Amino acid sequence: MIKLQKSTFFNEEDTKKKLCEFIKQARFLSMGEECKKFEDNFSKKQGRKYSVFVNSGSSANLLLIQALLNIGRLKKGDIVAVSALTWSTNIMPLIELGLQPILVDCEVDSLNVSTRTLKDALEIQPNIKAFFLTNTLGLADDISEIAIFCSDKKIILLEDNCESLGSIIDGKLLGNFGLASTFSFFVGHHISTIEGGMVCTDDKELYKNVVISRSHGWDRHLSPDSQKKIRKHYDIDDFFAKYTFYDLAYNLRPTEINGFLGNNQINYWGHLVNKRFDNFIKLHKIIESNEDMVSLRFSHMDVVSNFAIPVILKDQSLVADYKKKFVDAEVEIRPMIAGNMARQPFYRKYVSNPGNQPNAEFVHAHSFYFGNNPELTEAELNLLSELLVGDR
Ligand SMILES: Cc1ncc(COP(=O)(O)O)c(C=O)c1O
Repeated sequence: MIKLQKSTFFNEEDTKKKLCEFIKQARFLSMGEECKKFEDNFSKKQGRKYSVFVNSGSSANLLLIQALLNIGRLKKGDIVAVSALTWSTNIMPLIELGLQPILVDCEVDSLNVSTRTLKDALEIQPNIKAFFLTNTLGLADDISEIAIFCSDKKIILLEDNCESLGSIIDGKLLGNFGLASTFSFFVGHHISTIEGGMVCTDDKELYKNVVISRSHGWDRHLSPDSQKKIRKHYDIDDFFAKYTFYDLAYNLRPTEINGFLGNNQINYWGHLVNKRFDNFIKLHKIIESNEDMVSLRFSHMDVVSNFAIPVILKDQSLVADYKKKFVDAEVEIRPMIAGNMARQPFYRKYVSNPGNQPNAEFVHAHSFYFGNNPELTEAELNLLSELLVGDR
């Protein structure tokens, strides 16, 4: 059986052994030095000034939106564009926090939003305040142009990069094109900390509020200098500072176990990304030569780093046969993320006008994906190759 999630960690046995040793000798397991070290390591690898570690990618999304509201860059009622092809918890924080999502269609052959589809959305709704773009399955469309377009139109660009750690376009890592980006370290993603997520930004004001809002609203994890400033501003002494809460917040902290795992797994970043890219190139060559399938457009990208490989059938009548082929061969398959978000019950319940997304609709009905794991064996890769070959 080729499962979507092949293991909990890369190099599992060794990682588990080291984790046991770490737990045995650690004095505290609540958020501390390991988490801070992972944030610093991640900032270095990603090339961002600030990284804030949290307990999931979903929490990272919620926290980012809350912090933008806290510092006034977003206001309740603002319209925020999102990719129609994304994950539920990319959009849910917007609804939960009183913002209005609108769906932007994808391109079928990149699975991602392009400037073309973004411009179409803007024509229907000219008052878009922010765009929370999802970099879908390691791919991207013309994201450099999207960033320029958003900057010209004064639209705040945010990236949900939970599916694309390590992908590079125009020499730049995905996750570095907007004001802030979010990442997931859930099992099966590029790096696993069991559960975990990150918010990255270069913006100091946003960073400080993300830190405050991650943990109860207090200043405990700000730098000593920032603590001094905020306490002076609110006239709080060091005793009361312990239980002073400055802004709307949650408790989304990770643990030292997650931090330790992050520091262990981040060492494999290069290998994990390269191996996934190699697998993708190898398997996509077969997709490309199969007339039943839509060939993906990624020649404009330097590196494609995905944890699952999409299969899009041109003709809907072929979908059931290909799905059966994979299932019969015991290869786990899933729908293309959440498909067209407009179809999801929660979206229909809370958003009155879901709009039209013909391409996301096509992808919803014509596709599925299977896992791309850096530890796929030669035999497994050969089986996947055979399954991708057409019958015609
Ligand atoms: C685009 C996107 N955003 C957010 C998430 C949520 O991440 P997590 O499972 O860590 O909460 C996912 C999950 O895979 C995702 O695909």
